[in-house]
This record gives sequence, C-alpha cells and structure tokens, in this order.
Amino acid sequence: MIKLTGLAALCVAAAAQTVDAAVTFNVPSKVGTGGYAYAPLDPAPIGISFEFFAFPSYFLNVTGTNQCLANWKALTGVWPPIRIGGTTQDRASYDAKMSAYVVYSVASAADAPSTLTFGPKFMTLAGTYEGSVVVGLNRGKNNIDNTIAAAKVAVAETTNLLAIELGNEPEYYVKDKQPIASGTWNPTTDVASQNNWNLRVGSAVGKKHLIQAGNWNAAPPEWGAANLIAAENATVKQYVHHYAHHNYPGGSIQSLMNHATTSKNIHVFDADVAAALGAGKQYVLGETNSVSGGGAAAVSPTFGAALWTMDYALRAAASNISRTYFHHGTVGNCQYCFWGRYTMGAPYYGATAAVALLAGARHLAALDKGTNAYAAYASFDADGDPLRVLLYNSDYFTSGDATARKSQAFTLTGLGEGRTTVRAKRLTAAGGATARVDRGDNPSFGGQWFGNGTCVVAGTETFETVVVEGGQATFQVKATEALVVYLQ
Ligand SMILES: *[C@@H]1O[C@H](CO)[C@@H](O)[C@H](O)[C@H]1NC(C)=O
Ligand SMILES: *[C@@H]1O[C@H](CO)[C@@H](O)[C@H](O)[C@H]1NC(C)=O
Ligand SMILES: *[C@@H]1O[C@H](CO)[C@@H](O)[C@H](O)[C@H]1NC(C)=O
Ligand SMILES: *[C@@H]1O[C@H](CO)[C@@H](O)[C@H](O)[C@H]1NC(C)=O
Repeated sequence: MIKLTGLAALCVAAAAQTVDAAVTFNVPSKVGTGGYAYAPLDPAPIGISFEFFAFPSYFLNVTGTNQCLANWKALTGVWPPIRIGGTTQDRASYDAKMSAYVVYSVASAADAPSTLTFGPKFMTLAGTYEGSVVVGLNRGKNNIDNTIAAAKVAVAETTNLLAIELGNEPEYYVKDKQPIASGTWNPTTDVASQNNWNLRVGSAVGKKHLIQAGNWNAAPPEWGAANLIAAENATVKQYVHHYAHHNYPGGSIQSLMNHATTSKNIHVFDADVAAALGAGKQYVLGETNSVSGGGAAAVSPTFGAALWTMDYALRAAASNISRTYFHHGTVGNCQYCFWGRYTMGAPYYGATAAVALLAGARHLAALDKGTNAYAAYASFDADGDPLRVLLYNSDYFTSGDATARKSQAFTLTGLGEGRTTVRAKRLTAAGGATARVDRGDNPSFGGQWFGNGTCVVAGTETFETVVVEGGQATFQVKATEALVVYLQ
C-alpha cells in the first residue's frame, strides 16, 4: 500500500527555490497545548448532500457514487455521512401506495422537477447506505400529516437515520409561493413554525433527538441557530438532534480559493456554532458548495474550487462545525459535483486530501490565523499525538499566467528531536487553478487519480520524503497546491 519513492524523489533546498521567506508553524507535541483552539472531530466530518429528487438516480444509476464514497471509507474506516434534501424536498409528497422510488416529469433532463412524489422504497433505499443519513422532508406545502407519514417511514426504513429536516431554506418560501408562507413570513414566524413542527412531528413519530433544525441559506444572525435556540422551550429542544445552515460563498476562482476569504467566510457562523454547542448540540453545514444553483461553469469544476473544498471543509471542522455536506444536484447538470456519470470533478480531489488529513483523527487545530494566503492544519490521534499536517498555498496560479509558478516554503518545527525524515503527499494539478478533469488536466493526490465514471483510484501511491533536522523541516508548496505531511 505505502510506497516510498526514496530520498531522491524530493530534495528540498529550503531558501534557494523560493522568493518569499518561509512561513513557520510549530506543531504541538500534544493536543490541547501551544495556545491553539482544538476542535473535537466527528468520525467522518466530510459528507455528501444529494438533491432530494436525484437521490435514487445517484444510488442506482451513477456508477461512481458507491466507489467515491467507498474510497473515503477505505481511508477512514467510516462511511461518509450523507444528507438527502434540497429545494425539491419542499416540492415532494409522500405516497404510501407508490411502488416507485420517486416519480416526476421534467421538460429537459437538465431540469429539477417542480413537483414530485415518492414512495416508501425511497426510504428503504436510503436505509441500504451504511453511513449516517439525514433526510429532508416538506414543510413548505404545509401538509403536516403527509410529512408525519413520511417521517414515520423514514424512521422505520432508514436504518442509519441520523436526523430529519423539516423544510429546506425556508427564507425563500415567500419567493417560492409555498403555502406555509402565505401570510406573514419572516425569521420570527419561521422560528415559531419550526418549533411547532419539530414538536408535532417529533411527538407523532415518538422519537426525541430527531430533528436537524435551521437549514437556512441566508446568512445569520437574521436567519440563524442562535435566534432559533433562543425561541425554543425545553420541550421543543428535546426533539432537536442538531442545527444546520447552508452556505454557497461564490465569487471568482481566485477569491473563492483564497485562504483568508475562506477563513472569514467560516467566521460568519461563529455565534451560531457557539449557541448550538451551548445548547449541548452539534452544528453542521447541512448543504454547501462553491456557487449556488448547481455551481458556476467557470468556477465550480476547477482545481481552484477543489482547493477551496479542502480548505473550507477543514476550516469548518477546526471551527467546531461537526460535518460539512457538499451538495450534488441534477445528474448531468451539476458544475460543482465531485463526480458524475462520465467524468470526475476536480473538487473530489480536494475533499479527498481533507479526508486524508482527518482519517482516524480525534482533534483538529488550525495553526494559522486565517489572515493570509498560507494555511496549516494539524490533526491529532486518540492518544493526543500529532497525526498529520496539511499545508496549503492559496496563491493563485494558472497555466495561462505569464510568470512562472512560484513556490512558498513552509517550515514546520516541533517534529520531534529523534526524527530524521517525514513523508508527504502532494495535491496538485499542472494547469493550476483553472485545471479541469473534463478538459484533460487531471489533478493528482500522492501521484494518484480517479477514473472517469468509475471513481476507481489509479496510479501508484507516491510519498515524497523530506529531511528533518533538529525537529524541523521545510516543505515547498507551489502556488495553488497543498501538501499532506504524515507524522505517523
Ligand atoms: C439512468 O441513466 C441513463 C443514462 O446513463 C438514463 O438514460 C436513464 O434515464 C437513467 N435512469 C434513471 C432511472 O435515472
Ligand atoms: C413549547 O413550545 C411549543 C412550540 O412553540 C409549544 O407548542 C408548547 O406549548 C411549549 N411548551 C411549553 C411547556 O411551554
Ligand atoms: C471548539 O470547541 C472546543 C471545546 O470542545 C473549544 O475548546 C475550542 O476553543 C472551540 N474552537 C473554536 C474555534 O471556537
Ligand atoms: C477524463 O475524461 C476527460 C475527457 O472528458 C479526459 O480528458 C481525462 O484525461 C480523463 N481522466 C482520466 C483520469 O482518465
């Protein structure tokens, strides 16, 4: 499995290759030390969200789905968490007598349906997945009896059900002409509605700790968990499993992948995360990706977006956001998707590097302050020992640039006095930020790539070896590149 390429594979001459001075990070010898903030980690902090109507297709008719999820299971020992939901959950009705998974009609295969019906088999299919599952149900239609019937079948059939959502992005219900919002609809009325539904659905199903509450996309505090929690009484609170928010930062590739931008974006959720933890519950990004509405063609399928995916998932995890679910929409019309029927998406590579950093880890710390282009994260094992470090150079480079690709030196100290070498895997793409798999510029992680359509890993796993002297080593990370350093 592990193939060392030998010292010759990488001979790092610290200062000679780089214009800028090295950025230096001290790797704490134990979790909890060194003045850093440490986030406890979920067993699998990086998950996938599937648009409600498209979920059966992803599981039954897209070959890559199982393999892409299984690749992460192989790394971590845990199936990644999934969430089934999105705009079409609020267009869906449950039909107990229907034998199909889901029924809808669309004018074009690129469209999402404006109305759809699902049967009990939909939840049985969700129950075949071995990782945790969040299922999003309808609140917009204001048919609570139908939603309770669906919730009952979800609880009965979805073996690994973690939570149920009651409504998706309810701040858009007025725009979407949803019946529940036909009168006054604002953050206060939505919060009252959520509390009422959480209690009624939770008690009808007879299950506490059932609801993933919140699920807004508009930024907090107006729409946010802190407001919701403040309005919940103890009875309602018992039915809440955890809180969620959605997020699509958008922007150009250059601004999206910039580390300082990502760090600032994650800080938007600080108060809500604190409110959730204060209520003794987790906080997750329940649906997220680079750009809303299926992604932007010029941004979302690129290697720059892959690096954003990696950095964003890690910044979220380091900020006590327990899980981040990257959204996958209409099959065949999804710029930000990690995989599709025919080609891989570059973002899968970024997510995989983040999964590799976190595999088997119990804690994560951001070693940088989030104020410039250079990031460092350290993960820690069950004994509190440092496990791996990820270094990210978010300086923008594309193959179209007139100037050569610059390198940034990262020096890590505190690597242990006795250590003479350390191994690392590189996440890179020759074309830089604009590289796309479907245009033939395949990224690689540790010298490996994933097959189009299959998601099967190919190529030889390759570690670089870097010399450690006096507990210190210097790594060269090119503009628009990342490196995972293995300390064990
Ligand atoms: C399965 O995928 C094929 C294309 O590969 C498509 O023509 C067919 O409609 C899909 N079936 C379902 C049930 O999604
Ligand atoms: C708690 O809040 C719910 C929802 O707003 C309400 O229906 C219920 O009566 C309240 N319970 C108590 C004990 O105040
Ligand atoms: C995350 O939560 C832990 C407590 O579990 C706390 O020590 C740490 O400071 C928090 N991190 C941040 C960034 O707030
Ligand atoms: C994936 O398909 C694209 C064409 O769509 C091709 O250019 C690329 O090289 C393929 N990647 C791999 C790893 O086979």
